[in-house]
This record gives sequence, structure tokens and C-alpha cells, in this order.
Amino acid sequence: MKSSNLTPIKVGLLGIGTVGSGVFNVLQRNQEEILRRAGRGIEIAMVADLDTARAQAVVGPNVQVVNDARAVIANPEIDIVIELIGGYGIARQLVMEAIEAGKHVVTANKALIAVHGTEIFAAAHRKGVMVAFEAAVAGGIPIIKALREGLTANRIEWIAGIINGTTNFILSEMRDKGLDFDVALKDAQRLGYAEADPTFDIEGVDAGHKVTIMSAIAFGIPVQFDKAYVEGITQLNAQDIKYAEQLGYRIKLLGITKRVANGVELRVHPSLVPAKRLIANVEGAMNAVMVQADALGTTLYYGKGAGSEPTASAVIADLVDITRLNSADAAQRVPYLAFQPDAMSDAPILPMSEVVTSYYLRLKVADEAGVLARVTGLLAEAGISIDGMLQREADDVGGAGSTQTDLIILTHDCVEAKMNAAIAKIQNLPTVLAPITRIRKEELA
Ligand code: HSE
Repeated sequence: MKSSNLTPIKVGLLGIGTVGSGVFNVLQRNQEEILRRAGRGIEIAMVADLDTARAQAVVGPNVQVVNDARAVIANPEIDIVIELIGGYGIARQLVMEAIEAGKHVVTANKALIAVHGTEIFAAAHRKGVMVAFEAAVAGGIPIIKALREGLTANRIEWIAGIINGTTNFILSEMRDKGLDFDVALKDAQRLGYAEADPTFDIEGVDAGHKVTIMSAIAFGIPVQFDKAYVEGITQLNAQDIKYAEQLGYRIKLLGITKRVANGVELRVHPSLVPAKRLIANVEGAMNAVMVQADALGTTLYYGKGAGSEPTASAVIADLVDITRLNSADAAQRVPYLAFQPDAMSDAPILPMSEVVTSYYLRLKVADEAGVLARVTGLLAEAGISIDGMLQREADDVGGAGSTQTDLIILTHDCVEAKMNAAIAKIQNLPTVLAPITRIRKEELA
């Protein structure tokens, strides 16, 4: 049958803010091309939003707007429910109800999938419906598609991503303008790059949700946000960004997941990255994800990680997938987390103390004989090898005649527990005058 002879698949939208409006507008604008790809029209038939007047103004008079999301879920004509409410309160309840009602679900909700994914996928599997979440990770970049399908031949080794645009914008401003974190955050808020309450972004939680989802798909493990190590950028200062630069590195907030012999690393924290890597040069609010896979080698996926139409691009890609596969047997569909539900791995997420990485250390020390020897002696005793060092002239650090200086040490790889113990000992030296700054370093080679 010609695609144009099929009736359009009907979609209900829960929440029509920035992303929802983008979905509606892009679907309208590109409907002919989308029909040629999907083989069937896709129609937003019903919208639920608390602000019905604003919602009606976005979708026009021909789309039914209600203020009760459950009326959308209860509508037997609706095949797909798009959840764009966010958070894991009411959004979780509505997604579970939509699944129970036999609807396919598309969501951009990273928190929901990272925290409650296991429960959601189990329910969807029982009901034989699809749950698609391309927009939940890195906005418009089709990274879920790439990991789940494009790289399906590969054994994925690690993923490292700049997956939070707000913090990348702040870090870019700190580097470009020599600003400290607090000042750069205020600028980002003034320019609309950071929310009034930026906690989830600056504390690394948003990136933690996203890397949790990628980790599950890459390694066939359940989503386990509760086991992720999450550290944000609030402690960074302009000085460390400058020292890192002098040593040939940029500081980025990375979401990292890695398969190692005894389990899986899952972590978000600021990292020094060699300035010559492409990913180190991702600036402003852009996102990028680097994937190391055994057959293909390294790939880098770059683009807009937020915004109305970029995120809508990902939501609509999911709508097209579901439209194509709607009539297919559930067993023919791509599994939610890339691996068949009965073939998931129980590889444990490693605690941070067992993670192996290299480090940047900054010590404020008394500028006197033997200080460096005592510090390097304690590192040597712990079996930690030094990769590079930088010592500032005392006058540069504390002004003319200063008796203090900054000592910057780059180490080779060592297990974090060992580094913690060494730092505690070094911190106890009377010649170490302030809390030691430690930033992890990833070569991404
Ligand atoms: N707040 C996120 C960011 C976008 O700054 O990248 C949505 O996840």
C-alpha cells in the first residue's frame, strides 16, 4: 500500500514547552519528507498542558488541548505518548500508566530513564510496547542510535562525553576570560545558558543521568544512576584552568564509562584532557561524545545538546522509528538497552576508590629547601609515578618577596584509593599550606 494511503499514526503530547513546541513545528514543517521516510503520517492529535491557552496558541485550533494528561493516555486513538514533563515524580507515574494502557512512549527525560529505567523497560516489555529516549542524551546528537545500532558489531571499550552544555559554556567562559566559577555562572544565567536553579547541571547530576544511560546501552548492564560517581565543577577556579593550559591540557566536565577487567567505571567529574584532542576543543554550550570501540576505533559525535528544534530532532527520530516498527512483532524490535533483556550483564559498577586514572595536583607550599623532595618522596613511597611538573616562581604566586609557591604535579595512572592515601599524607606536611587541589586527567588516547 502506498504510504500516503495509510491513516496517520496518532500521537499525544504531555507538556508543550520549549521542546514540545519544537516537536510540533518541525513535524509540521517537514511533514512531507517525514512521511516519505516513515511510510505513514505522524499526527500530534492531542496535547496535555497545564497552560491550555498557551498550548492551544502553539498548536492551533485543529489539535485538541486538555489540561489532564490522563485524558491523553485514556484516548484509544492515541498510539504514542510523548512525555516532555521532566523529573521523576508525576512523569514517572504517567509513563507507567501510558505503558499499562498499551501506548508506545517517547521521552526526553534522562532523570527518569537513568533512575527508573529498569522498572519502565520491564513494564514495557510485558506490554509489548516501545520506549524510546534518543533526546535524553546529548539532545539532538543521535548517540543512542549510534551506540545501540550503528556500533552493534563492536565491543565498546569506553565512552567519554561533554554531555552538559551549561557547564561546558561556563568552563569555556572561565578559560577565555580568566573568570572564576561564581562569576562565570552568573554570566551564564544572565545570558540564558544556565537555569535560575542550576544545581543539576553544575553538580554533574544531569551529566550523570546521561552517562548512566550510555553505559547501560554500551555494555548491556542495567541503568544504575545510584552507583555513579558524580562531581560537578563548583570547586574549579581560573588558576587551575590556566595551569592546565600551560601543561597542554583543557579542563572539561566529562561523563566517562569504561569497561575494565573487574567491572564498569561510571563517573562524572572535571578532567584534564590533552588540548590537542578534538573533544578538548568543544566550546560553549555544544556537546560531544567520544566512543572507543574495538572494530571501528574512535568516533566522535558533536552537536547541539539542548534547545527546542535540536531536541525535537531526536524526539521525532524516535517517532519515526516507532511508526515503522509499530506493526512489527515485538521480538523484531531493537531492544531498549541494545542487548536482549535476558542477555544483560551483571558486571558491577566500580566504586571510585577502585578507578584507575591519572591526576593533576596543585599544592600551595612553603618555598624552602627540601619541600619538593618530601612531596615527591611520599608519592614514590605510594608507588605513584610522576609524569610532569610545573613550579611557579614564588613572586608570581604570592607577590614580590613571597615565601609561598604553587607546585603542580601530573601523575601517571594509579588507583584512586592509593592517590587518596598519598594526598592525605602530603596534606599533613607542615610545609603544605592549603588544601591540595586534585583534578583527574584523561588522555583519551
Ligand atoms: N541542561 C542540559 C545542558 C540540557 O545544559 O546540557 C538538558 O539536559
